[in-house]
Amino acid sequence: MASANQRIFATRRLPGAALASLPGGVDLEVFDGAAGPDPDTLVRRAAHADGLLCLLTDRIDAALLDACPNLRVVSSCSVGLDHVDLAACTARGVPVGHTPGVLTETTAELTIALLFAAARRIAEADRFVRAGRWQAWDPELLLGRDLGGSTLGVIGLGAIGRAVAVRARALGMEVVGWSRSGRAVEGVRSVAFGELLRCSDFVSVHVALTDETRGLLGEEALAQLKPGAILINSARGGIVDEAALAERLASGAIAGAGLDVFSEEPLPADSPLRGLENAVLLPHIGSASFRTRARMADLAVENLLAGLSGERLLQCGNPEVYAAAEAEKSSG
Ligand code: GLV
Repeated sequence: MASANQRIFATRRLPGAALASLPGGVDLEVFDGAAGPDPDTLVRRAAHADGLLCLLTDRIDAALLDACPNLRVVSSCSVGLDHVDLAACTARGVPVGHTPGVLTETTAELTIALLFAAARRIAEADRFVRAGRWQAWDPELLLGRDLGGSTLGVIGLGAIGRAVAVRARALGMEVVGWSRSGRAVEGVRSVAFGELLRCSDFVSVHVALTDETRGLLGEEALAQLKPGAILINSARGGIVDEAALAERLASGAIAGAGLDVFSEEPLPADSPLRGLENAVLLPHIGSASFRTRARMADLAVENLLAGLSGERLLQCGNPEVYAAAEAEKSSG
């Protein structure tokens, strides 16, 4: 049980009731600002915290950890942990919580929504009607592509990639997949990375952003996509070279893209993607359903409280921290 007088700094209010149910006596400070604290403010406000509850927009690095000597746990209300220096946390004995599992289905549904939106030009058609450009029913108006009967290439066969594959198969798509571990998944034909790019009508990205996957879909990989292919990214922006993607979309080398994530978020005003009719752009809402965001908040708070009481986190992004602690105990 977390003890009285322990301090928690939360970088944002969370949906649902999780923060309201903290044990009595725990001192909670919530940053009150729509965009969250900038790095200097985060260092200042978290300096005395025993527990830090953060989001994927907060950078948790060695400098921050050094400024927070009491920190016993970092809990991120996200599945992705590319904003956290896990090695620095492990080196300081700080477990890092995250929220896998509870957002799998919701993120897979959003991915399918992006597939439909890009294939059938939904956002473009909506803009067309609103702009008063709809003059007549036209047999050639806003033609798109069918999902049924086409091939979806899934890059990354973790929980979300697999949940997307199940849904795509139910829509009549053939699914091919590639993962770095080479895992076999029922109903998904395992192929090499290059083959996936060359044979898929739709490609959907589901790997975590790490040093190995940053820029995985760079200029060379994008050039291998089929003419008329559609690229979907609901994972992390840094995996795709956005400038190269924008060029291929503008030239018509590929037919479209559905993007929920970007290398810089919010998407800068001068991003070349903004002017492209064939790109569907969403503001990173993969897990944004009422139920899922409440579940994520609950799990993030459970992780936080476990860390404050010295118990193992329910979902820990750096489980090696426990082995390191055990080794230290037995050598001492
Ligand atoms: C969303 O992108 C998450 O990592 O939870």
